Amino acid sequence: MAVINENYLKLAGSYLFRETAHRTAAYKEAHPTAEVISLGIGDVTQPLPAACIEAMHKAVDEMASPDTFRGYGPEQGYSFLIDAIIENNYKHYGIEPDEIFVSDGAKSDCGNIQEIFAINNRIAITDPVYPVYLDTNVMAGRTGLLQPDGRYAGVTYLPCTAENGFVPALPKTPVELIYLCCPNNPTGTTLTREQLKVWVEYAQKHDAIILFDAAYSAYISEPDVPRTIFEIPGAKEVAIEFRSFSKTAGFTGTRCGYIVLPKTVMGKTASGERKSLNPLWNRRHTTKFNGTAYIIQRGAAAIFTPEGKKQVQSAIDYYMENARIIREGITSIGITCFGGVNSPYIWLQTPNNMASWDFFDKLLKEVNIVGTPGAGFGPCGEGYFRLTAFGNRQKTIEAVDRIKNQLKI
Ligand code: MLT
Repeated sequence: MAVINENYLKLAGSYLFRETAHRTAAYKEAHPTAEVISLGIGDVTQPLPAACIEAMHKAVDEMASPDTFRGYGPEQGYSFLIDAIIENNYKHYGIEPDEIFVSDGAKSDCGNIQEIFAINNRIAITDPVYPVYLDTNVMAGRTGLLQPDGRYAGVTYLPCTAENGFVPALPKTPVELIYLCCPNNPTGTTLTREQLKVWVEYAQKHDAIILFDAAYSAYISEPDVPRTIFEIPGAKEVAIEFRSFSKTAGFTGTRCGYIVLPKTVMGKTASGERKSLNPLWNRRHTTKFNGTAYIIQRGAAAIFTPEGKKQVQSAIDYYMENARIIREGITSIGITCFGGVNSPYIWLQTPNNMASWDFFDKLLKEVNIVGTPGAGFGPCGEGYFRLTAFGNRQKTIEAVDRIKNQLKI
């Protein structure tokens, strides 16, 4: 009989968004007439930009003719997309085409990247955190068991709470891999250039690597928040960046993202020899992935056309107006909240210090609104709750009205 990977048994319950979906489905089944509004999982509701649709239609037609049909493409992505990514997002940072790897999204990339690192690397994650960083390291065996305090042994947790302005302190014990997400999921808060510089300098000094998730960078509105970690001098030696078209341009169902892995980012062998990580990831990517579909990559490239850019911006403006509506509505009833300025997430403090899963149940039962309990993102998320601005306008307004007028707090 096959022996299982017992690291999976260390995982606490199911994936967070499966758990919230499960509880929501059970509620709906018991209350079939309830008009439940989801401000839970960060899934977009606006259709794909027209420029993307047009490009994808054209690409479908190309598939119908022997002259323009495409089979396997380059695993790393087509040059038309990679060139557009560099031209629009990395022109000033000297990123080369072979340092971009197009994929089926940042979730897979954030989960898969740990495969190129040895099992004994020590990881640091913020608390709360996007669960994929942690869970995939648990699966790989890079952590001990889950402790009674809700933390895995062997992991360095970096608390991010209202008390420290959601800015993580540098680790007190050595780590080799540091996960940072900015704008942050789930707190919706950001690091300024100066604050991120501290991390890049730390990584340089301690030979650590920063795994920088910038999936929400398109939502940044304030000037002192870096759009990419490569704005910070020295980051090209210590950082890997994850980007996604999901939240930028509505590709949550269409799937496309990419990694930026400069050839200057190094790890070492057990004997101490320095090696570039880029060829390792290239090897992994070409072996395990056959490339994002041509049609999808054509759609993604259209985001960078003048029309595409305008359409993307208008969807982002739409969601950020939702964020304003949520933020102001919540604040008006005396609930403290964060985020929602450079990010589509609003992170609120639960009223009366209610446990976040209790608040989830209360919100669902009393006003039929689904959100995400902070505790699902880590022990420091307890007492917090996340709402997303990705709903449609009318439902967002309705949800805020219900919270303001019907929730008993
Ligand atoms: C979220 O709600 O945090 C996101 O939808 C998760 C994801 O992007 O995978």
